[in-house]
Amino acid sequence: MKYAIADYALTPNMAIVDPNFVDTMPKGLTAASGIDALVHAVEAYVSIMATNFTNSNALEAIKLVFKYLPRSYKNGKDDPLAREKMHYAATIAGMAFANSFLGICHSMAHKLGARFNIPHGIANALLFNQIIKYNLTDAPKKQAVFPQYRYPNAKTRYAQIADELNLGGKTEDDKVKKLLDAISKLKREIEIPSSIKAYGIDEKEFMDSLDDLSELAFDDQCTGANPVYPLIEDIKKIYIRSYYGE
Ligand SMILES: [Fe+2]
Repeated sequence: MKYAIADYALTPNMAIVDPNFVDTMPKGLTAASGIDALVHAVEAYVSIMATNFTNSNALEAIKLVFKYLPRSYKNGKDDPLAREKMHYAATIAGMAFANSFLGICHSMAHKLGARFNIPHGIANALLFNQIIKYNLTDAPKKQAVFPQYRYPNAKTRYAQIADELNLGGKTEDDKVKKLLDAISKLKREIEIPSSIKAYGIDEKEFMDSLDDLSELAFDDQCTGANPVYPLIEDIKKIYIRSYYGE
């Protein structure tokens, strides 16, 4: 079982963030931890707990990941600048999500990773695009309690991320489409498969565990901060879409 435990009592007062420690990190870990940092920042940015204090950290981390993760993955220790920037990006994203929390990508990745022994960051990456598509509404069926905003605005928030990355696009829909394309391209560059099936998880085994996974994911601590409050049935559909991919 994998369940995230978060509490302000567990938040450090000080951290030593030294890029030298990650010099020789292998490629697989570079990809998994790098894409995890991106999911942290994006989920923190669209979280119902996002505030002015977390927004700037989230956006800065997102920009750093898009710029430096492919280089860090490809060049490893031969590109110390990319290594250093990714180390900072992961920490900055951590500062954002320690204060605004995450969303259902993490809820679902926790259960998927635990059940099929998939590295945490990869499990997130396999779900990420379908989560964004699910959240992409300013009229959710259900909203979480105590949102920090006056009205649902997830689509606008994703479009703002696209703007920050200078991806172009006229309407919010255009912009989010470009963001999804950019995420897919980034995943290809760091050799992350495009679906749970492509990762190599057996279809029958996956379908047999779907009900359990969906219920466990619903109960995960990260679900409450997602911009759309899901039904267990919704989570199940996202798992199925992520299994087969686009
Ligand atoms: Fe994570």
